[in-house]
Parts: sequence; C-alpha cells; structure tokens
Amino acid sequence: MSSDNYEIITHEYDVVVVGAGGAGLRATLGMAEAGLKTACVTKVFPTRSHTVAAQGGVSAALGNMGEDDWRWHAYDTVKGSDWLGDQDSIEYMCREAIPSIIELEHYGVPFSRTEEGKIYQRPFGGMTTHYGDGTAQRTCAAADRTGHAMLHSLYQKSLEAQAEFFIEYFALDLIMDDEGACRGVLAWDLSTGKLHEFRAHKVVLATGGYGRVFFSCTSAHTCTGDGGGMVLRAGLPLQDMEFIQFHPTGVYGAGCLITEGVRGEGGYLTNSEGERFMERYAPNAKDLASRDVVSRSMTMEIREGRGVGPKKDHIHLNLMHLGPEVIEERLPGIAETAKIFAGVDVTKEPIPVLPTVHYNMGGIQTNYHGEVVTLRDGEPDAVVEGLMAAGEAACVSVHGANRLGSNSLLDLVVFGRSVALRCAETVVKGAKHKALPAGRLDSALARLDKLRNASGDKPTADIRDAMQDTMQNHAAVFRTGDVMDEGVSKMADVVKSFEHVGVADRSMIWNSDLVETLELDNMLGQAMVTLRSATNRKESRGAHAREDFTERDDTEWMKHTLAWWDGSDVNIDYRPVHDYTMTDEMEYIKPKKRVY
Ligand code: FUM
Repeated sequence: MSSDNYEIITHEYDVVVVGAGGAGLRATLGMAEAGLKTACVTKVFPTRSHTVAAQGGVSAALGNMGEDDWRWHAYDTVKGSDWLGDQDSIEYMCREAIPSIIELEHYGVPFSRTEEGKIYQRPFGGMTTHYGDGTAQRTCAAADRTGHAMLHSLYQKSLEAQAEFFIEYFALDLIMDDEGACRGVLAWDLSTGKLHEFRAHKVVLATGGYGRVFFSCTSAHTCTGDGGGMVLRAGLPLQDMEFIQFHPTGVYGAGCLITEGVRGEGGYLTNSEGERFMERYAPNAKDLASRDVVSRSMTMEIREGRGVGPKKDHIHLNLMHLGPEVIEERLPGIAETAKIFAGVDVTKEPIPVLPTVHYNMGGIQTNYHGEVVTLRDGEPDAVVEGLMAAGEAACVSVHGANRLGSNSLLDLVVFGRSVALRCAETVVKGAKHKALPAGRLDSALARLDKLRNASGDKPTADIRDAMQDTMQNHAAVFRTGDVMDEGVSKMADVVKSFEHVGVADRSMIWNSDLVETLELDNMLGQAMVTLRSATNRKESRGAHAREDFTERDDTEWMKHTLAWWDGSDVNIDYRPVHDYTMTDEMEYIKPKKRVY
C-alpha cells in the first residue's frame, strides 16, 4: 500500500506489543510461547528500555528470609494505595507474584542468593508482616541491577520463542474501526523512513510512563508516554493521572535514582542537624515508610530550614556505616552512580538527595487481564475490543494513589504475563483480519504530515521546556488550588504555542527533531490531563497532597478519575473503586487512617 507521501508496508500478526520494557517483553514472551504470531514494536533496543534502570528489586511473598504471606503483601499494597487501589486486582497481583517470580528464575534471571541458595530478598518501604506489625523482607533483588537482569533474560527467551522484533520503530497511532475496536497500529521505521501498518487481533500498549513531562525525573528521556498519547487521540480516557510519585532519593541536581534498597539495607536520611528526622514523621517504619510520606517529610525539613548544602535545599542519605563489603555485594551500582553524578565516595560521605519524579500511578485503564476498559453507557469497566495495556503505561489499578517500591517491577511481570494468558485464551491463531476501509490511516497520516511540515517559529525544545517548567512548579510534592489553577492556565498557553512549532528537518530517516515533536505532542495532552485531574480532586490522598484540603475524604473522593482530552480541552468523569476482592481467600480491607 502507499499514500501520496509515504511508502507503507502492511504486516499481519495475531498480536502486536508496543514497547519492549519489562511488561512488553513479558507479554511478548508469553504470547510467543503460546504459539501466537507475535510482533514487538519498540522505539529503543529492548535491553535499553527504561526497565533497565530499575534497581532495588521486585516484590513477592516468597518467605525466603522469614515468614510471609501474599495477603500481608496485599494489605500493604492497599494501605500504600491510600485505599484507591482496586482490591480484586491487588489480590490478583500479590497472589500471582509468587509463581511469576519463580518463572522469572526459571527463565534465567540471575537473582542474588542467600547462603542456602534461595532468592535474596530485602526490606522495602511499606512492606510489613502480620498486617502491619513486623518488617517484611519481600523484595527479590539481583544486587541493585534487578531491572537490567530481568530485561536481558526476557529478551533472550523471547527470541528463543520466535517473537519478531521491530526495533527503533516509533508507534504513531492506533488503528481503530468505526465500532471503536482496535485493529492494529501504525509505526515509523526510523532507519529506513518507511511506515509499517501492523494488523493484529490484540494490540498491547507497554510504552511506559510519561515522566518526561517534568523537568527533573528519574525516567529516561524516552519516557514520553507514547501509549497514553495514542489512547487520548483514540478518544479514550486516562485514569488517575493526578497521582505522580516522587521518589525520595534522586541524586541532587542530576535526578538519577538511588534505590530505596539503600534504606532497605540500613541506610538512613539526615538533615542539616545530623538528625534522623524520619523518626519524628514515621515512628515505626522510619526511613522505610511509604514513598509519599518520606518525600513529604524531606520537603518539610527543607522548608523549615533544615536542608543541607550551601542553599539548604536537599537532604543527606547515609550508607557509610554499612561498610565496603555490603556496598560492594548489594549496592555496587549505587556506589558508581553516586561517584559519577554526585562526586561522592559512599563509603566515606553521604549522598545528596532530593525527592524526584519517579512514577505515574495513573495511565490507561485496564482490568487485571490487561484488557483496556472504559466508562461506556454507564458501564464503568466496558472492554475496548482489541486493545490491551500493561506496565507503567497502564492503570489496573493496583497502586491507587501511591505505589510501594518494588511493586512496579512486579506489576510489569504479573500483568505482562496476564495479558499473555488472556491472549492465549481468546485469540485464535492465524484468524483472518477484519477488512477495514481504505481511509483507515488518514487521520494518523494527516497528523504526521502536519508535524513533519510544521514551519512555525517555536522550536520543539522551547515548548518542551515550558511544559516541563510548568509541571515541575505546579504539580509538585505539595499542591494548592491556586498554584494548580495557575499551572492549568500556563499549560493552556503551552498547548496553544504548539500550533506554532517548527520542525527543521523534513527527512523521514533518523529525524530526531520529528521524533521529539511527536513525543511532545504525546506529552502535552497528558500534562494537561494531569493538572486538570489534580485541580478537580479536592482532598489529600497518597501522592496527591493538598495544603488547602489536607485530609482524605472517603465519602466524596474514594473514586477513580477518568479524563479525556480533545486536543484543546479536558473532560472529567469518575468511576467507583472496586471495593471487593477476587476470591474469598482475601478479605476486603476496610479503609482506615494511614500511619507508618
Ligand atoms: O528504589 C528503587 O529501587 C525503585 C524501585 C521501584 O520504583 O519500584
């Protein structure tokens, strides 16, 4: 097929996965192993996907280091979510964590080991035993390079299972039919300049988060939420976008991650007085309280003049006392990162750290099979045929208003796997694809043409800077209505300025200017949806901490936000939280005050 301006190559697969991080690769592997003709389309080489940067580990109640139970894990996750997580999905994730991790071990992930040869597990924030009484060692680690280890094993196994990879292909848009079903995806091969139409019975979006809407984040520059952008353009909503996680320990100035595993191994935070201040804010869990709690406590210390450094604007993370052996065995990557990005020898000095944007709890609404669902004709969880999502791109919702550390790698693995299980169950191998009208790619091609030929006077980088600056200052750790309203108004100007964007290079081969412009287009809608969802929610819950509405309000606000974007405005609606479990093996966990 060809259009006036582009050569388009058509492919037919049973299933197509977009993205080759942990979720994308786990889905790809499971579907290829099930004998489905599987393609994985990815913007970057699979082992360079952002999962590679995940350090501390993946949670599962294996009980290798002491007693544990998946129900305790589920309790911690519900509490961590500040009761916004759906309890059926949380039950599914915590129960399935155990077989999912054993499978990973069998796939060859080189986990660190205990003396007896079991998978090594470390403590992480908010992870307890006996429904909050003790500290759980639940986070399975491959030193401090767990994501790296997982990606390599999953990519190798996917190749062995005959999955086909389309590497450095940028997904442009979903191919939707008139009934609102997804029938494929259009992608651009960056190396040849050709376009590829992938027809599939299921398209799985595993495109990661959109952390790069912020100026300072732990996410790679590739984390531009391309799946979320495509979903908004397809007229579907994104869920709970107001909930942005700040990781307590990003390197001051550089933003890169220093794993929570440091505190799991016994590291601790101090202020300018050398005080271990977390003892005041979270007397039980201390430095291992939930991330939103630790990030807020650090921000309070800085605000009250007890920050460290010449500007008193950051905090110290101490691990000198752990000794060189522990650091070398358990935290080698951290020692290297601290040296390179902060010039610090961690055996002798503390690391300067600051809460840094790290994770999007919100994303594409799915059920626990990974099927995209939406509010349709009053039905809150109506399945969108042909479309699935997993990983940080998705919102199941297991993390609710705040994710616990090491539940992210778990989410990738469990829901990548559940997508594969669902496809193996529902997709008929080699089934014929539905005929589509000739104009099926028109809107995607028109958008590409418009941006490729954009000749305005605003460079993409300038508009992106303005967006990042607005998000950084108006959707921060602490929020107020006035500050967020100002953010909405500034972001509306940023969105308007995109009408005047200019792309210098018209080529379709390795055109990074065009890639960045398409990425920015994906991010702008998500930035706006985030701000609007945040201004609307008049309570404090998890990572959404309002100084003008300081309490959680379960009567009014125990509900999920759904937000649509039409290119210039946001529409908002809500759906109920699932206040039921999947089976009788777990009891519904009733809301209570969240203290650590
Ligand atoms: O701190 C960390 O190692 C990050 C883990 C996570 O976000 O789950």
